[in-house]
Amino acid sequence: MSRSAHPAGPRHADVLPEGHYSAPPADLNVLDPKVWSRTVGRTAEGRVTVGGIEVTRLAEEFGTPAYFLDEADFRARCRAWSDAFGSDADVFYAGKAFLSRAVVRWLHEEGLNLDVCSGGELATALDAGMPAERIAFHGNNKTEDEIHRAVEAGVGRIVLDSFQEIVRVSHIAERLGRRQRVQIRVTVGVEAHTHEFIATAHEDQKFGIALAGGQAAEAVRRALKLDGLELIGIHSHIGSQIFDMAGFEVSARRVVQLLAEVRDEHGVELPEIDLGGGLGIAYTSDDDPREPHEIAKALNEIVTRECAAADLRTPRISVEPGRAIVGPTAFTLYEVGTVKPLEGLRTYVSVDGGMSDNIRTALYDAEYTVALVSRSSDAEPMLVRVVGKHCESGDIVVRDAFLPADLAPGDLIAVPATGAYCRSMASNYNHALRPPVVAVRDGAARVIVRRETEEDLLRLDVG
Ligand code: LLP
Repeated sequence: MSRSAHPAGPRHADVLPEGHYSAPPADLNVLDPKVWSRTVGRTAEGRVTVGGIEVTRLAEEFGTPAYFLDEADFRARCRAWSDAFGSDADVFYAGKAFLSRAVVRWLHEEGLNLDVCSGGELATALDAGMPAERIAFHGNNKTEDEIHRAVEAGVGRIVLDSFQEIVRVSHIAERLGRRQRVQIRVTVGVEAHTHEFIATAHEDQKFGIALAGGQAAEAVRRALKLDGLELIGIHSHIGSQIFDMAGFEVSARRVVQLLAEVRDEHGVELPEIDLGGGLGIAYTSDDDPREPHEIAKALNEIVTRECAAADLRTPRISVEPGRAIVGPTAFTLYEVGTVKPLEGLRTYVSVDGGMSDNIRTALYDAEYTVALVSRSSDAEPMLVRVVGKHCESGDIVVRDAFLPADLAPGDLIAVPATGAYCRSMASNYNHALRPPVVAVRDGAARVIVRRETEEDLLRLDVG
């Protein structure tokens, strides 16, 4: 995840400290379209706009910190994924990246399916009108109550994650007089090249059932015997923020091998495979993500080839992108509160949010960029660390980046690519109020998740 130290070019300090940064961009006013959502631009006066609205107006109307979600971009990405995979495959948006009623309606309108992994996500999906048969239910420890609600609602599939769950889901389905469509999640033994906490297909971890040692084959054996279950396929999710397609190829190959073993042992050709989510996005200009059509082509080719070699009918493929759809569509807008130059080190820029609205930097050492958006500036670049207002020094939003040296309190700065796993992982640490999510489209902005209030906090505090 790290870039090389690159101390070159004009700066406020003669010697720059070691860090994960590249040289400052030639012009700090330029917004790289790789990391900013599609309708973001800058007016002739230097103010940044999204969906045709200036961020200064957005800040006045909605306050800061706030997430601004580019609805046109979100919908375009949904369409790019479903067009790339076509009618022979299914795209499930992974709701854990960010879920709200509005998002569910957009997904529905754009023809996508939805992956949920908790009762809360299921409730949001159903409440906003997602047809149950287009919902997949995930999780390594679904409660009986969650399983009951999912089966009763008629979800299209439950992804089984353990031997206990195979029996649990079958019993609940039988009690409800149903036969639940299920997939079995396997771990294929791939070491995905990503942060340890978001890699999920090596064997020493909590998700899925290992292919190794015949565990997954045994799970299939058991599932096929149970009356409450209709086993429709095998699921594999290898991790998150992955750029290299090789891991997906190995995963697809091993899943197809299991399908062939199942056919040989039981005379059953399972009709579906799900290759999970995990496709990386550009957080900085150094990241080069794959386009959905390249991903679809690579996955289709490998599955078709492996199936032909094993003399299997090609199963229906599904994928579960979360970050790749919503991640690039939002930025977080902050107001600068203090600017503190540390001689010979860097300048600390404190904003009105922090690790409560973006925990990813502290948790995964994630890299972000930042830009001055309320005006343009021709001042020299200065090396900054953007920090929040929380009571710990690990409260870092952007570890190393460049902002103009004339940055001052009251300026608005924005961190792009915060659509995924920022609002959904936001917390109330230090009794911070979680920021709103504002959808912007064609010159109109509307709150889709409102800002938390102190009354919201006190309402839960019943002591
Ligand atoms: N499918 C399954 C079964 C998953 O567990 C996940 C993510 C996805 C799909 C979607 O993955 P995506 O396409 O969004 O990478 N909080 C971490 C990411 C955790 C991902 C958990 N599972 C982060 O902020 O990077």
